[in-house]
Amino acid sequence: MHRVGALGVTYPDNYCDTLIAKYEKDGVPYPHILSILGEPRIRGHFFYAQALRRTGPFLDYGCGTGDNIRQLLRDGFPREQITGFDLTWESLNLGFDLYRDWDAIQDLFVVNGTFPFGKGMFDTIYSGSVIHVISEGAELEKYLKNAGNALRPGGVFFGSTLGIKDGESCEPDELGPPRVMPLEEICRYLEAAGFTRPVLVARPHEAHRPGDTKCVFELYTKKPLEK
Ligand SMILES: C[S@@+](CC[C@H](N)C(=O)[O-])C[C@H]1O[C@@H](n2cnc3c(N)ncnc32)[C@H](O)[C@@H]1O
Repeated sequence: MHRVGALGVTYPDNYCDTLIAKYEKDGVPYPHILSILGEPRIRGHFFYAQALRRTGPFLDYGCGTGDNIRQLLRDGFPREQITGFDLTWESLNLGFDLYRDWDAIQDLFVVNGTFPFGKGMFDTIYSGSVIHVISEGAELEKYLKNAGNALRPGGVFFGSTLGIKDGESCEPDELGPPRVMPLEEICRYLEAAGFTRPVLVARPHEAHRPGDTKCVFELYTKKPLEK
């Protein structure tokens, strides 16, 4: 709340206690989100400045609390081109409660148990910290296939996922995500979904425990132009 408050959001007395009580009761699927709320990762991505210049339809695929959507709006990305999608309202509701902006931006979000978007609808798709929460290989294949289908030919898919550098190993731990892939495996999934050879840039990851060799991979790839 302090971080979000620094953006100008104000809260009535006892709001914090009310929120804690609400979310203790409801539960939040990915508790790590709580510690990074108000710090939209998209802003630090190596492709972000270029993404802001694309201005065609933009999908945040697995938008969580909606922090990245709010960052796009703050950076002047055309509002009418922005869509955030997630499978459930849980994280999004937490975002609305913290930013207190339901009335202002709820229309930008689509929530559905299955991916609802048709072929070639988007110019750019962002995937922030979603790949590493998808434990099932078949579900990840579907996620990436959906992204490829919803992009127009030549469209950009960029984002981030936790992983490990090739040659290193890291067992999943109870605080970490269910999927920790080496760079080559991430590339294989993306290429199998029809994307061009991806660019991956390793960034430091805040380790949860000694021996945690994970890193954050920022990724960028494209849907090939049709021949
Ligand atoms: C760790 S959060 C990241 C949220 C946000 N993208 C961010 O950068 O802060 C992962 C999100 O991915 C969503 N997610 C997981 N599997 C998904 C899928 N198959 N399709 C769409 N969203 C998915 C979860 O519901 C959750 O909100």
